[in-house]
Amino acid sequence: MAYDVIVLGGGPAGYLAGERAGQAGLKALVIEKRALGGVCLNEGCIPSKTLLNSAKVLHYAQDGAKFGVTTTGASIDHKVVVARKNKVVNTLVSGVKATLKANKVDVVNAAGFIKGKDAEGFIVEADGKEYKGVNLIIATGSAPAMPPIKGLRENYATGFVMTNREILDLETPPKKLAIIGGGVIGLEMGVYFNAIGTEVTVIEMLDHIAGPTDGEISRMLQKDLSKKGVIFKLQCKVMEVTADGVVYETADGKTEKVEADKVLCSIGRRPVSNEIGIENIGVYAERGAIKTDRFMRTNIPNVYAAGDVNGTSMLAHTAYREAEVAVNNILGKRDIMRYNAIPAVIYTSPEIASVGETEETAKAKGIVYDCAKVPMVYSGRFVAENEGVEGICKVLVEKASRKIIGVQLMGSYASEMIYGAALMVETEMRVNDVKELVFPHPTVSEIIREAIFKL
Ligand code: NAI
Repeated sequence: MAYDVIVLGGGPAGYLAGERAGQAGLKALVIEKRALGGVCLNEGCIPSKTLLNSAKVLHYAQDGAKFGVTTTGASIDHKVVVARKNKVVNTLVSGVKATLKANKVDVVNAAGFIKGKDAEGFIVEADGKEYKGVNLIIATGSAPAMPPIKGLRENYATGFVMTNREILDLETPPKKLAIIGGGVIGLEMGVYFNAIGTEVTVIEMLDHIAGPTDGEISRMLQKDLSKKGVIFKLQCKVMEVTADGVVYETADGKTEKVEADKVLCSIGRRPVSNEIGIENIGVYAERGAIKTDRFMRTNIPNVYAAGDVNGTSMLAHTAYREAEVAVNNILGKRDIMRYNAIPAVIYTSPEIASVGETEETAKAKGIVYDCAKVPMVYSGRFVAENEGVEGICKVLVEKASRKIIGVQLMGSYASEMIYGAALMVETEMRVNDVKELVFPHPTVSEIIREAIFKL
């Protein structure tokens, strides 16, 4: 008998689609060729946060004297950190497996390939068997971009160049690490390796780090990380990767080279939709990204695409929600994906978190806005817990309606606070609505209230 839904891919979009389908009583199958949990759980979000937490613990120990706590000889054992990371990943992967089982979702651990469609449904082959599904959710994720830079692929083959996958399993930290791309992965990994004593150089082609982050916050972050010893080469174009470093061209046309023991290539990710047989059922993709509407439907009836494979937002939390939208529409419940209030976090230290419009995006869209800015030192708890650390909160409102349209944070707990701001943007709260909210005291979140009262 055909499944109600076959999910191709077991990452955040795939396993959550399976879970939600199972919860709703649908007969569901998840096909995953690697480990359940996908990039996020196995080689992305979770392992990187485990490493970054160890860096934080080291920092607390080394910096304790400022807080009246003296330790001697605090050091980090990277091998132990990686072993703990593996333990964390295994625990969570087992959790996903158990949740799918509890919801009666079948799992096949093999590469799935769409062969076509017959009267019963879509035919997907995996591990030499054919499975049929009335509905199909494609959730095959993304892979690191590897542009045709001279020597990049050759040196990836030798292990000199790494992506997010290999760097998280490095047993011995490099003395010198060159990072191509000053985006999310480059910065998070740069922060960890800088903290454990590696000389980190970030080569970025733009004139700023952290991509679409608010410009002021991007500059503050760069200043903070530079102070800690991270070297930034901005507006630099990588020309070649050699066996011992990266050659790049500077903004004024000079050729320079940074020598390194290892190179991290983190210049974005590309949807993975080739080699899964979408052409056999006519699913439309543009440069690998499977196009969907707001119901997560592709151009083919009963075929949905959720997560990185649609190339829209490429974040695990977006993937979760897209998966739910797809399953709800399969169930006949109207549900629409909205992208205007998706929080973004960079887990550097200090953390950066953002939702909605930045000053730059508001200007580009011609939105007339007011912006309130307060330094983090306006928060009592921030001052109590930090010494010599800068932070900021920016709140943007649409001038005419006084609607909250964006919040940007740099400082401790930013990642945990941003969902509250997302709620304000999502529910279109006005300045006066937020003024009436009571924030717990003392918390860093009160900084948002401080900013609101400046508007
Ligand atoms: P990214 O898109 O965040 O950053 C890539 C950077 O590389 C950009 O600043 C770009 O200007 C630069 N770049 C591109 N080509 C270059 C070249 N030839 N030379 C020098 N610089 C170049 O991509 P990243 O960091 O690889 O992350 C990939 C994905 O993973 C992102 O979509 C991100 O959303 C996701 N991710 C999210 C995390 C989070 O939410 N905290 C953590 C890690 C990854």
